[in-house]
Amino acid sequence: MAEKFIIHPCGPLKGEIGIGGAKNAVLPVLAGSLLTGQPCVISNVPNLSDVEYMCELVESLGGFTAWNRNQGTISIDTSRLTKCEAAYELVGKLRASFLITGPLLARLGRARVPLPGGCAIGSRPVDLHLKGLAAMGAEIEYAHGYVEATAQKLQGAKIYLDFPSVGATENIMMAAALAQGQTIIENAAVEPEIVDLANFINTAGGDVRGAGTDTIKINGVKDMKGTHHSVIPDRIEAGTFMVAAALTRGDVMLTNVMADHVKPVTAKLKEVNVNVNETPHGIHVKADNCELIAADIKTLPYPGFPTDMQAQFMSLMAKAKGTSVVTETVFENRFMQVGELKRMGAIIKIESRSAIIEGVDKLTGTQVCASDLRAGAALVLAALVAEDTTEISGITHIDRGYHLLDERLNELGACIGRAIEA
Ligand code: EPZ
Repeated sequence: MAEKFIIHPCGPLKGEIGIGGAKNAVLPVLAGSLLTGQPCVISNVPNLSDVEYMCELVESLGGFTAWNRNQGTISIDTSRLTKCEAAYELVGKLRASFLITGPLLARLGRARVPLPGGCAIGSRPVDLHLKGLAAMGAEIEYAHGYVEATAQKLQGAKIYLDFPSVGATENIMMAAALAQGQTIIENAAVEPEIVDLANFINTAGGDVRGAGTDTIKINGVKDMKGTHHSVIPDRIEAGTFMVAAALTRGDVMLTNVMADHVKPVTAKLKEVNVNVNETPHGIHVKADNCELIAADIKTLPYPGFPTDMQAQFMSLMAKAKGTSVVTETVFENRFMQVGELKRMGAIIKIESRSAIIEGVDKLTGTQVCASDLRAGAALVLAALVAEDTTEISGITHIDRGYHLLDERLNELGACIGRAIEA
């Protein structure tokens, strides 16, 4: 049954919130567990539907997963990995499913995976993933909406990524882990989730060096072993709560967060006149005595301002004093929240890849629809400070990437109900 949020305006958010494990770290690590035939235990796993879908996919290939949601751990055993073809209906639910291509090719010598379609934020091709696998000797064929990659034994290669794609870096790194010889990825993505995946591969007996820099060297090994890996905290969930505290002029302490990973968001919040302090206990956002001042952002690959925080920041700028320019350089269609924010009273004009936001004194509640994960989060944030009630439909998008965002905001003083959509 489809559900909706019913959000009443709330006062300043106050209190302490613990940040969960990173969705964009646990998904590649689960794919990476296909590289070894020995059992792995993944911990600090966030309770998200995207994680559920990845577990379903691993099981459809012959793997075994046991998810203890209370402990936040997944035991995963792919010793009986029998299939190298991913079902369309599973891949269609989760774009990150394409990350199984490299590990399956490396482990079984073949992978047949549906080409992921585009999504709300853009066409999202996988050409860089496939260019890297082909460079390592894979035969790549396309038929009936599937890509079929085969390789007797992948060979190490030097690969230059035209764009520092996170997914392509992850897929190639995983394939290279079991290849013959050394693979060098140049212009690699440097996101923290890349480093986390490299750490998983290395503790499972792989040999990845330079993760976190734009040049990653992977020395292929014959086989890998089981390991226990705890995923990093979710820097985007953290950033979302930081913006929620700022927007409501609240006073919130975020714990279980890696301050370095949210530096771009911290710097930008300070620029808009919000107090953000990194303490030994966590990150303290104190905005109860400040006027929000407009600032510009331009999304860039890490360590630039994250594209996954662009929509949330736009909600903040909708109520800031002055005019701000938000430029989205990573995805070609990531302003899906603009139309709905305007219906709430925001003044926003889109000019090519930029949105010009003129801050307003008040936003008004109405019915809006979440089109994708981060646009949905942006609407929740705007609804927290709207003059009256807002109803947000399409919240399955939000539940994919945030564990009980409504309940956890309510713990800080928000007033969000969840109801079945009529
Ligand atoms: C990852 O997606 C994240 N998803 C995204 O988070 C995030 O927005 C993105 O990285 C950028 O940081 C996961 O990690 C599961 P990319 P990914 O490959 O790997 C183009 C969220 O909200 N491109 O770095 O798909 C692509 O079209 C999600 O949590 C190619 O052209 O991102 C895009 O314009 C959304 N060819 C740009 O690169 C390729 O082969 C960045 O894509 C691959 C990508």
